[in-house]
Amino acid sequence: MEKVFQPHFIWLDKVDSTNTFCMNLAAKGEPEGIAVAANVQEQGRGQRGNSWESKDGENLTFSVLLRPTFLKVEEQFSLSKVISLSICDWISTKGLNAKIKWPNDIYVGDKKVAGILIENSFSSSTLEVSVVGIGLNLNQKEFSRDIPNPTSMALLTGNQFRPEVVLSELMGAIRTRYLQLGSGFKMGIDNDYLNKLYRYNEYHSFTTNEVGFKAKIVGVKPTGELILETDKGEQRTFAFKEISFEI
Ligand code: BTN
Repeated sequence: MEKVFQPHFIWLDKVDSTNTFCMNLAAKGEPEGIAVAANVQEQGRGQRGNSWESKDGENLTFSVLLRPTFLKVEEQFSLSKVISLSICDWISTKGLNAKIKWPNDIYVGDKKVAGILIENSFSSSTLEVSVVGIGLNLNQKEFSRDIPNPTSMALLTGNQFRPEVVLSELMGAIRTRYLQLGSGFKMGIDNDYLNKLYRYNEYHSFTTNEVGFKAKIVGVKPTGELILETDKGEQRTFAFKEISFEI
């Protein structure tokens, strides 16, 4: 059945976390396609239990409610793929070649311009609700020292961006990729994903359990694990948090 996905928006002045707000909307039966954005997030959440910092009103911090019931639990990483691709698609309209730093970061060059935090709930074997949180740095030019490799669209292009306009454009890109996934265009998505993967097929340094080694990324398993091949030809698979990139 053709999916109906009509983007609609709530813009809040201040909230704890747009992901939490969106989850509460989901619990009340809100249909998919709503985007909740905020000028100020007081407890913005990032990956690995970190907080997400963003100067008030300068960037885009928002969450989208999806109901991808067509995805099996073991296919959930494909949602991360289409969200990452849609951010890259939007960035490419501004003349930049963004890459996906596995699993959840969007990079331009060696700097992070956006981060993604997807929180899922399941009903037995399929996904029920996905709250997709995105922090995209737009106009911020100075970042606190403990944020690794940050950049913003303004630093990259020299232009200013209007968060409401970017939200609407980005939701269009998300809609396109999400409908692509819903209509079973998996091979095309997988192909586009590998083409956009940061440091794909190039030898670089990685660390696991505090041990460094050289390897190249050769793929990502359907369940989301990263597949590396060492310079000795050995293939190793890593889940999120088991491996870090040396930038
Ligand atoms: C990361 O790179 O660590 C992921 C960052 C995700 C941040 C966004 S901002 C909007 C949404 N609400 C949150 O609390 N977090 C996500």
